Amino acid sequence: MPRPNDALSLIMRRKPAHSLDQAFYCDPDIFQTDLEMIWYRSWLFAIPSCEIPKAGDYVTHELGTYAVVIVRGNDGQIRAFHNSCRHRGSVLCRSRKGRNPKLVCPYHQWTYELDGQLLWARDMGPDFDPKQHGLKPVHCRNVSGMVYICLADTAPDIEPFAAEAARYLAPHDLENSKVAYESSIIEQGNWKLVWENNRECYHCAGNHPSLCRTFPEDPRAIGNDESGEMSGLLDQHVARCEAVGAPSAYKIAERGDWRFVRTPLLGSGESYTMDGKVAVSKPNSTIPFKDAGSLLKFHYPSTWNHFLSDHSLVFRVTPISATETEVCTKWLVHKDAEEGRDYDLKRLTRVWIETNDEDREVVENNQRGIRSPAYRPGPYSPTHEGGNIQFVNWYADSLIDAITGPATMAAE
Ligand code: FES
Ligand SMILES: [Fe+2]
Repeated sequence: MPRPNDALSLIMRRKPAHSLDQAFYCDPDIFQTDLEMIWYRSWLFAIPSCEIPKAGDYVTHELGTYAVVIVRGNDGQIRAFHNSCRHRGSVLCRSRKGRNPKLVCPYHQWTYELDGQLLWARDMGPDFDPKQHGLKPVHCRNVSGMVYICLADTAPDIEPFAAEAARYLAPHDLENSKVAYESSIIEQGNWKLVWENNRECYHCAGNHPSLCRTFPEDPRAIGNDESGEMSGLLDQHVARCEAVGAPSAYKIAERGDWRFVRTPLLGSGESYTMDGKVAVSKPNSTIPFKDAGSLLKFHYPSTWNHFLSDHSLVFRVTPISATETEVCTKWLVHKDAEEGRDYDLKRLTRVWIETNDEDREVVENNQRGIRSPAYRPGPYSPTHEGGNIQFVNWYADSLIDAITGPATMAAE
């Protein structure tokens, strides 16, 4: 039976403002459809550019059956290639990250330049043309310090997003940042459950004691109630930040796949710490006050981010199977900030390490409950779960568009 059609008929029959049918969270065939119709066609956040600051620095990333290597060239440009040798297809870079002057295949030592050209291949005969055997490129774009890739042959237009990102991220110096810490957790839950949990704070009061010290649960403070009504506090905060040149107003893409808004933290909160004070004394933002709140960004299907006055947090979602998802979190601080002098690593990371773990648990409980034959889609709270309604609408629209094939989606 053709998989995409199953997903199409199921999604067309969904109940609006309700969670999805069980199959969307559990079925391996629908998971494969998600990969092919959404993940393999979208721009995906891969790494912060500061993670590969020098020529020859590379990071590998896997998604579904694709393996990609992202590498900085001698010209400073970041490029992405399929991590598969053009000789007989061996994986080229085996480590998760590293630095090499050239990319050398471990199998028969074919050697590639950092820009993907084949430099050397032993004894391939007089007719062999190295130019025909360069690494296969993957679309790659450094968007204001966040490296995005797209696996489609023809990538969707990233420019409208990149232009907004340039504005919103300008006060946050990601290019001059460094990764202070990273964590990778595997959640036993479908990637959409990871997102649904991210898009609401209905669960926060009952599950996130550390985060709730600073993060406002009020959906109006983060533009998450379905009415779009903003609290006066958010309006004031936006006006105060914009007055010092930090774009902050709520902005969502026409297709709903990305959003920016700078939200205030609770009370006089400055950062996600247990006492609410900044975690890093050498900030990676140019905003002239510490209580600038958090610039919240999401970009479906692969990333949500928090940009604070003192540091930034980038989260990357990678689906592994119908019921497993990796969430990789990176804490970015100014590149010259020194651990022990400008920040204490435990203080910097505590709130979100705890929060991620709490989120993992609620997502896994959600997945287990959905597995029951008794599960039926349930209603979202219009007050607290406007973000979920927005997410599932985006998902349903994207799936329907991809399967039925409008011109805006990438080609096969
Ligand atoms: S497969 Fe890479 S050199 Fe042979
Ligand atoms: Fe949460």
